[in-house]
Amino acid sequence: MSGKSIVLVGAQYGDEGKGKIVDYLIQEENLKAIARFNGGSNAGHTINVNGKELVTHTIPSGLLHDGVKLYIGSGTLVDPVRVLEELDSINEAGIDIKDRLVISPETSLVQPHHTVLDGKNGKSIGTTGKGIGPAYCDQANRMVGSDLKNVRFNEYIHNKDSALRAVRHNLAQIITDEAIITQKMGDFTVSADYLEKFVHPSNDFLYHINLNGENILFEGANGLLLDKQTGTVPFVTSSHTLAANAYVGGDLSPDKHTKTIGVAKAIMTRVGNGPFVSEFGGVESEEYCKNYANDKEKESSLNPDILLQHDEFNIGRALRILTGNYGATTKRPRRVGALDLFSLEDVCKRNGVYEVALNMVDALRFFSKTQLPGIPVVVGYETQSGKKISSPPSDASRLYTVKPNFEYLDHFSEDISSMKDFNELPSAAKGFVNFVNDYLKNVNGSGARVSFIGVGPQRDQLIRL
Ligand code: IMO
Ligand code: MG
Repeated sequence: MSGKSIVLVGAQYGDEGKGKIVDYLIQEENLKAIARFNGGSNAGHTINVNGKELVTHTIPSGLLHDGVKLYIGSGTLVDPVRVLEELDSINEAGIDIKDRLVISPETSLVQPHHTVLDGKNGKSIGTTGKGIGPAYCDQANRMVGSDLKNVRFNEYIHNKDSALRAVRHNLAQIITDEAIITQKMGDFTVSADYLEKFVHPSNDFLYHINLNGENILFEGANGLLLDKQTGTVPFVTSSHTLAANAYVGGDLSPDKHTKTIGVAKAIMTRVGNGPFVSEFGGVESEEYCKNYANDKEKESSLNPDILLQHDEFNIGRALRILTGNYGATTKRPRRVGALDLFSLEDVCKRNGVYEVALNMVDALRFFSKTQLPGIPVVVGYETQSGKKISSPPSDASRLYTVKPNFEYLDHFSEDISSMKDFNELPSAAKGFVNFVNDYLKNVNGSGARVSFIGVGPQRDQLIRL
């Protein structure tokens, strides 16, 4: 009998705490492989190893679990320099994944010119600057011969001279300083050469795992609202983050699919520019967070308890400080907002999500220190003239103009971060989860429901429902 294939995706703008749910499912579902299918080093996942923070970007979650294969699918971009850095930091943390890391031969390489271009042109979107947009552009552009732009790992391995000529040529078109070119080419070559041993000879790695009756989990990067086609265009990433893309970028056929899990946060965040309907402080917050100088250190001198007493912009700042919401990849302050159920429902519909993992439920207690009448959730949108909107628009210009309809749910002030069972939760926290379940009860016919509650950043701060 063939194995299960589960897809786990972020249901908001990224940073939903996907890795923690993956860790739990490895045991529960007896997973043999965790696979990436989109994005690259724009993703960021922070893990705590013996009290130290380890941040991974392209390498899938699950590296703490011996025996679990870590697969980088063909839809993922590999920046050799970054992946090698990641491997080094994983090694330094005392974890050995050399026998577990497998890279698809069909992954496209992020080349030095991609990163340089993204650094120059990504500012208006607020990209992570990791070359993602330019690399996917070159992949779609299909140039040949001396115009070759896209280099896949298998071409690098089997046709190295011409691959390296192309990489150098692409870089030389935008940088003239020979010393910089030589240095970047050196780093690129050394790193790619080292990674070669992890590249599987063919694209059937997961096919065989599945055929052997073993279970696979596809781990999405970057969040469903950042999908290049259906997200908040143009403020999106350059890959498909949709669950269905697991079976394009992940090198397995869709007939193996078992279920899709969406990970959301009870207090939403967004990094980078673009509309965010439920953001505390709206455009003021967006502008404030755009300014890189507002870094963690600066904000940490503020007293969040005082900020919580003020307007929504300051409530957002306080929540960011209290929950440590700064980007794992770029360290930027994350914009903070209320849980948007109208958006979550739409995302569940588009992706066949039946199970929602809801993280950061513990942080809802901070609302009890504010003047707000309860815990805010968005239950619908209306136009400026007060007309109800039937489903969330995805284009940025319209999203910027919609007005959210809030509902305020009962407060709780208890610290729930060490609770292990749903029944232990204060009734208002249970009420919050029940409200989400009720809101989603008709989605996909039989409804989606909350199946995990995150009560803190640590891996064991999770309640299974
Ligand atoms: P994880 O996997 C949060 C955002 C960027 C930017 C936009 C485009 O950690 O959830 P890109 O570099 O992809 O071209 O940037 O998308 N973004 C993310 N935000 N978490 C991520 O990944 C993200 N990946 C991309 O901030 O606004
Ligand atoms: Mg991130």
